[in-house]
Amino acid sequence: MHVLVTGGTGRVGSAVVAELLGNGHTVLALARSDASALALDKAGAVPLRGDLADLKTLRAGAAEADGVVHLAFGNDFRSPDTIAHAVAEESAALAALGEELLGSDRPLVVVSGTPPVPGRVSTETDPLPSDGPVGGRSRTVVAALDLAPRGVRSSAVRLPRTVHSDGDGGFAGMLLGIARRTGVSGYPGDGTQRWPAVHALDAAVLFRLALEQAPAGTSWHAVADEGDAVRDIAAVIGRRLSLPVESLPPETFGPLGPIFATDQPSSSTHTRQTLGWEPTQPSLLEDLENIQP
Ligand SMILES: NC(=O)c1ccc[n+]([C@@H]2O[C@H](COP(=O)([O-])OP(=O)(O)OC[C@H]3O[C@@H](n4cnc5c(N)ncnc54)[C@H](OP(=O)(O)O)[C@@H]3O)[C@@H](O)[C@H]2O)c1
Repeated sequence: MHVLVTGGTGRVGSAVVAELLGNGHTVLALARSDASALALDKAGAVPLRGDLADLKTLRAGAAEADGVVHLAFGNDFRSPDTIAHAVAEESAALAALGEELLGSDRPLVVVSGTPPVPGRVSTETDPLPSDGPVGGRSRTVVAALDLAPRGVRSSAVRLPRTVHSDGDGGFAGMLLGIARRTGVSGYPGDGTQRWPAVHALDAAVLFRLALEQAPAGTSWHAVADEGDAVRDIAAVIGRRLSLPVESLPPETFGPLGPIFATDQPSSSTHTRQTLGWEPTQPSLLEDLENIQP
């Protein structure tokens, strides 16, 4: 397939581009800067100059593609306003991409997140939460899945809180950044809350499988580690950086504090059984051993 990819230079997207190119697909990838265009060109993709707000470009890219994988997001979690801006931008971009694919039965694979479900491990059939600071992203994903009866083979790959590679990424990467800045490897609450995780290379395989096989309107979990206790994540970070490991107040973690404090293990049993996805890369706690002081 000739696949339009947004976010193809990111931690997850660069792995997705490589996975697609390594499995017989060609890639047209959105690039909002010269540096990104160069990186995509080097990776073997054809850069499409433009950004997520450039709806004309997105439509033109989708029009010439056999399928779309959407990953780009302005991961700016400094304040509720920066988050709201990124959510609105993504929503408009996905609406444009979806409209372009209407009636074509072409695949549209959108990135999403595993939902937290109080008291148990979440599964692929649990609904996405539409409240909280990034609740708007869930509504965007649901709108894309709702295109299924209108001739779009839309599917969602739900990523766990941490998609990691080279000892960094996702929520664990944010803890790492806070530890480097503050001199304390901190965690919210008592640290027994669990976050799921996956290696970026394993997540990339699931994006490809969803593109190739997922029926319209379906959701999948890219979960390798069902739930790592946050205290255990902080302990590895503290040891690698020779820093104390302590509970810190929720405000240390910015607008995402409440999500950081939530126990949210998640399962991928249905995804593994149905699509034959099997993660093979190191777990999060193993990968964090790559942190350099
Ligand atoms: N990593 C995780 O643990 C995790 C967990 C759950 C969900 N997710 C989601 O998965 C997706 C990919 O995550 P990631 O970790 O790979 O993110 P990342 O490393 O921050 O990469 C973000 C990508 O989006 C592109 N981008 C951002 N804003 C853009 C805009 N306005 N126009 C065009 N391109 C734009 C960036 O392009 P440039 O090269 O120009 O910067 C980059 O390719 C995101 O939607 C993220 O929210 C990630």
